[in-house]
Amino acid sequence: MIATPTTKPHTGKDYLNLTLTATDKLERSPNQSLLPLTAKINDKDHLEIGGCDISALVKQFGSPLYILDEVTLRTACSQYRDGFKTHYPGESQVIYASKAWSCLAVVGVIASEKLGFDVVSGGELYTTEKALAQLGDSSQEIAEKIYFHGNNKSVEELKQAIEIGCTIIVDNWLELETLTQLGNSQSGSSIPILIRLTPGIECHTHEYIRTGHLDSKFGFDPNQLQAVFSYIAQQNVLDCRGLHAHIGSQIFERQPHQDLAGVLVEWLKIGSESGLNLRELNIGGGLGICYTEADDPPSIEEWVKAVSEAVIKACQRCEIPLPKLIAEPGRSLIGSACVTAYTVGSRKEIPQLRTYLAVDGGMSDNPRPITYQSLYRVVLGNRMSAEMTETVTIAGKHCESGDIVIKDAQLPQTHPGDILVIMGTGAYNYSMASNYNRLSRPAAVLVNNGEANLIVRRETYDDLIKQDCLPQRLLP
Ligand SMILES: Cc1ncc(COP(=O)(O)O)c(C=O)c1O
Repeated sequence: MIATPTTKPHTGKDYLNLTLTATDKLERSPNQSLLPLTAKINDKDHLEIGGCDISALVKQFGSPLYILDEVTLRTACSQYRDGFKTHYPGESQVIYASKAWSCLAVVGVIASEKLGFDVVSGGELYTTEKALAQLGDSSQEIAEKIYFHGNNKSVEELKQAIEIGCTIIVDNWLELETLTQLGNSQSGSSIPILIRLTPGIECHTHEYIRTGHLDSKFGFDPNQLQAVFSYIAQQNVLDCRGLHAHIGSQIFERQPHQDLAGVLVEWLKIGSESGLNLRELNIGGGLGICYTEADDPPSIEEWVKAVSEAVIKACQRCEIPLPKLIAEPGRSLIGSACVTAYTVGSRKEIPQLRTYLAVDGGMSDNPRPITYQSLYRVVLGNRMSAEMTETVTIAGKHCESGDIVIKDAQLPQTHPGDILVIMGTGAYNYSMASNYNRLSRPAAVLVNNGEANLIVRRETYDDLIKQDCLPQRLLP
C-alpha cells in the first residue's frame, strides 16, 4: 500500500503522502487512500479537498457536512471501467451499487463516467431513473443501465421495474412466479432477468456484510438451481440473461472472488445446457477500502485483473464463450471520495480512564461504528500540522452510550469550534443516515477545482415534521 502512512501518524500531515507528486496521487487507486486524492494542506494549515478549504466549507454550508470529492469518485469509476477494458477481452459493464450512496448528483457523476446502476428498492430505482432522465438518457438507455436487486421486492416494485424495462435480479421462487404472472398479463416484450445464487463461498469480513455463504437470506440455494433453470426454460415471458452472486463487502483477499468466478461459470454452463441463453455474469461487488493505515486492499486494477483472469480461465475450462462480465462495486467507488466534517463541542475528562470529545453528529449520520464496530481515522482539519498529543474518544451527540465515532483517536489538543474530519465516509454513511433523536440529516457538497456545489441540502426542523400527522381529535 502506498497511500497511507505505515507508522503511527504524528500530525494530520502524515495522512497525506507528501512525498508523492500531485500526478502520482491522482494515479493512485482511490480505495487504497485514506483521504480523497485531491487532499492538500493550504497556507492556513487547513485541509483542502477538491481545492476547497474545509473550514470555509463548514462556514458556508454548516456542520456536520459530507464533502464529496469529484476527482476521486471519477478516478475510481475510470479505473474500474478501463481495468475491464484492459484485462477482459469480452464485453464488460461496471454498475454502481447505489446502496452505498444514492442521490441525483452521485448518479449524475457516475453516469457521465459511463457506468450503470444496481438498485435495491423502488426508491433507489426512482432516484436513478429520475436522474438519468434529467441527464437526457432515453428510456432504452435507462433500461439498459439499471439492474434491480432485492430479496423481497414488492409487486409494486416489480411492476415499476417492468415499466422501466430494467434487468431484474431474481432472488427467490416467489419473485420468479410473480414475474411470470406479471409477464403473462402484459403484452410487452419478455422481462430481462438474472438469477442470484448463494455460491457457498466464505470470506473474512463482518458477519452482517457477508452474503455468499450458504446461510444467507439472499439468492437461490445452488440445490435449487436446476429446477429454476427448468422452470425458466418453459416461460416465454422471461429472458434469463445470466447469473449473479455477491459474496460480501470490505474484502481484501482476491481468492474468494476468483473462486466465485469459477462457481458462476460452471453454473452458466449448466444453465446453458438446460436450454437458456445465458450470456451475462455478474460477480457482485465487495472490494474493500482503507479505513485505517492497517487496511491493505488490492488496487481496483489488481482486483479487476484477478477477477477477469479467473472468468477467462473458467470459461476456457468449461468451453463456453466469454459472457458479458458485470461488476457492481459500491464502497470502493465512493467510500474514499468523501469525508465528514464535524465541529468539536463539549469535553469530558475522566482521570486515568478516558477523555470524551463530543461532536455535533454521530450515529445518525454514520451508523457504521455502532452497527459494525467499524474503525475510522480523523484529522484536525483546521490545524493539520499540529502534533497529535492526546488520545481521546470522539463521541456523537445522541442519547446512546454506544454513539462513539472513534474510540481512542489520536489528535492534537482541540478546542470547541475546531473541525474534525473523518475519512472514508462516502459509502454507507449518508445512505444509512437516520433522524435518530430528531437530528436533521447533514448537507452534502460536491467539490472540484475550488468549486463546491450543494448536492443534498441540510434538513430543516420543518423537514423533520413534514411527514407527521396530528389527528383532529387531539386538537383542542
Ligand atoms: C448485491 C450487492 N451488490 C453489490 C454490493 C456492493 O458491495 P460493496 O459496496 O462492498 O462493493 C452489495 C453490498 O451490500 C450487494 O449486496
